[in-house]
Amino acid sequence: MIDRNTLRPVTGDGRRLFVETYGCQMNVGDTEIVVSVMQREGYVYTDRIDEADVVLINTCSIRDNAEQRIWGRLRELRGLRRRRPSLLIGIIGCMAERLKERLVEGEDAVDIVAGPDAYRDLPRLVREAEAGGKGVNVLLSNEETYAEIAPVRLDRNGVSAFVAIMRGCDNFCSYCVVPYTRGRERSRDAATIVAEARTLFENGYREVTLLGQNVNSYRTGDVDFPALLKSVAEISPLLRVRFATSHPKDMSDRLIETMASMPNICRAIHLPAQSGSTAVLERMNRKYTREWYLGRVEAIRRLMPDCAITTDLIAGFCGETEEDHRATLSLMEQVGYDFAYMFKYSERPGTFAQRHLKDDVPDEVKTARLTEIINLQNELSERSNRRDIGREFEILVEGVSKRRDDQLFGRTSQNKVVVFDRGGHEAGDYVRVRITGCSSATLYGEEIL
Ligand code: 5AD
Ligand code: SF4
Repeated sequence: MIDRNTLRPVTGDGRRLFVETYGCQMNVGDTEIVVSVMQREGYVYTDRIDEADVVLINTCSIRDNAEQRIWGRLRELRGLRRRRPSLLIGIIGCMAERLKERLVEGEDAVDIVAGPDAYRDLPRLVREAEAGGKGVNVLLSNEETYAEIAPVRLDRNGVSAFVAIMRGCDNFCSYCVVPYTRGRERSRDAATIVAEARTLFENGYREVTLLGQNVNSYRTGDVDFPALLKSVAEISPLLRVRFATSHPKDMSDRLIETMASMPNICRAIHLPAQSGSTAVLERMNRKYTREWYLGRVEAIRRLMPDCAITTDLIAGFCGETEEDHRATLSLMEQVGYDFAYMFKYSERPGTFAQRHLKDDVPDEVKTARLTEIINLQNELSERSNRRDIGREFEILVEGVSKRRDDQLFGRTSQNKVVVFDRGGHEAGDYVRVRITGCSSATLYGEEIL
């Protein structure tokens, strides 16, 4: 078959592709790149796995339970293939990178194995698998950013989209597998980022989230992250801009000032603390102390008193004492996080912690500490929601509420979900709302007419 636009031969020939995505937002963005690459080759995306010819699973290695879930899913897919022998199954992303040998041979073997930097090569890998071989490419690159590939937006809310601005990570936190699965840090060309965001805006999108493992260290030529953020925010005052994730060590005053200077840069900072104990932070190789972290929070509060601060926390890291754990709880209180992702430490093969530190906190202690952390955060989140009652917010509408179709839901600049009566509004509208009530996860409001 020939592509009528480019006159290139394409090999997909209308065969159907399905991709299932696990893990972080970067992976969601990567899946959109994968679909774009495969569509150019003549494959057609389907969201029905039962009619797919090729199924790719975009995987995550961050914790052991993430990988266990995917092994379980793979067993189910093998069942599907027994009924449909022509079905091709591929594992792509972080697990492909980490576990290539196991995925190529033996009972866990799949047809296609592609690491996070090998997605341009996928059409060839799929062809090899179609010819009866195995398509394998797990080479990491120091340059690949998929800069000019236009992602195929699969979420289809048509209002908010992710835009990847960098890949990889050079921080080497001692617990983390990402530097090994995603390779070295590299930033994507600024002009392509701004062009992608502008195209999204012209197509009706009203919010972009700039994504990277550590967006604060973005740099291409003399464009650093505050400069990039500003250029994207200048596309239109009607375009909201968010970003994730920030590393506290690189959270600069200039970034905070840039945010404060533009109302369409959202008042929300995800600032993973991981622990409230300086001794633990040191073993984690986080390169900041509790005091430094609190200083950054203070700077944010000084310039943007209405800014939401959210975090990631790990319970039971190597050598964590009861006192260290108390320090995490007190940090949470002191900051008053609006929201947190909370995890039990999970040892990952090949990391510094696995090689040099002892995973010595017993599992039941980890569980007990995590439970305490979760209970405290539930209280803090509720307090944060209650504080909003009576206040006014501008909501960007994302869609119709799942519970009732006469209600809409959207988000505040602080990234909280608000549900309110539809009025004459639709997705993509900005609506001024007064908060009238809340549950633990949602705010309820009414339009200010
Ligand atoms: N165990 C538990 N949590 C981890 N994270 C990263 N690595 C691990 C691990 N080995 C958490 C961190 C990070 C988030 C994405 O996942 O909190 O910020
Ligand atoms: Fe999971 Fe980290 Fe890979 Fe994202 S980068 S998919 S969180 S291991």
